[in-house]
Amino acid sequence: MTVPKKRVVVLLSGRGSNMGALVEAAKSPDYPAEIVAVISDKANAGGLGLAHEHGIPAIAVPRQGHADKAAHEAAVIAAIEAAEPDLVCLAGYMRLLSADFCERFAGRMINIHPSLLPLFPGLDTHARALAAGVRLHGASVHFVTFEMDGGPIIAQGAVPVSADDTPDSLAARVLKAEHHLYPHALRLVLDGKARFEEGRTVFAGIEPADDAVRLIAPAIA
Ligand code: GAR
Repeated sequence: MTVPKKRVVVLLSGRGSNMGALVEAAKSPDYPAEIVAVISDKANAGGLGLAHEHGIPAIAVPRQGHADKAAHEAAVIAAIEAAEPDLVCLAGYMRLLSADFCERFAGRMINIHPSLLPLFPGLDTHARALAAGVRLHGASVHFVTFEMDGGPIIAQGAVPVSADDTPDSLAARVLKAEHHLYPHALRLVLDGKARFEEGRTVFAGIEPADDAVRLIAPAIA
């Protein structure tokens, strides 16, 4: 089935494997997104090359060369808006966003984070999960609000933690889950099945509990 595609801009800072997963999903005619632009704050981000390989316009808007954070954000916002997106996906975009930035895209910007939020916001999530001794770890996709990694959750993918896991082995298992989770969560939002309302995620036409259960098995298959 062919569906109308909504315009999605991806922001990243690194290798771009989650962006790649979104691009792969978007190749399907029945997937409701088209990735129309990729923007990075790092000129050497691997994700820029990957986007180019897929024929997607990709530009760097580095922090260097802008007087302050506000000037840099203004340039990033201008680049986003030039692509006229319906939705913005943060995919390893490693910058704290100002309240103004978050407000401008409220309900239209989502992020993926490598933990089962609200556990382990911030950095080094895999080492912290191992140190805490959790038996389940994973990733979350949430609407972006000013609270870092704190916005309302759209979907989560869980993976088991093995006794002999290292941060790297656990990160690899979670990343595999991320590549399944992010396209799924983006689809929920673009289909109107998960939307941002008064600081919460409101679901329509799906049972969030069933959805959560479905996101366990594929992650470890
Ligand atoms: C992903 O694991 C993503 O969840 C994480 O950065 C990585 C980017 O990898 N994001 C955060 O930590 C945001 N708080 P990728 O460039 O291969 O997609």
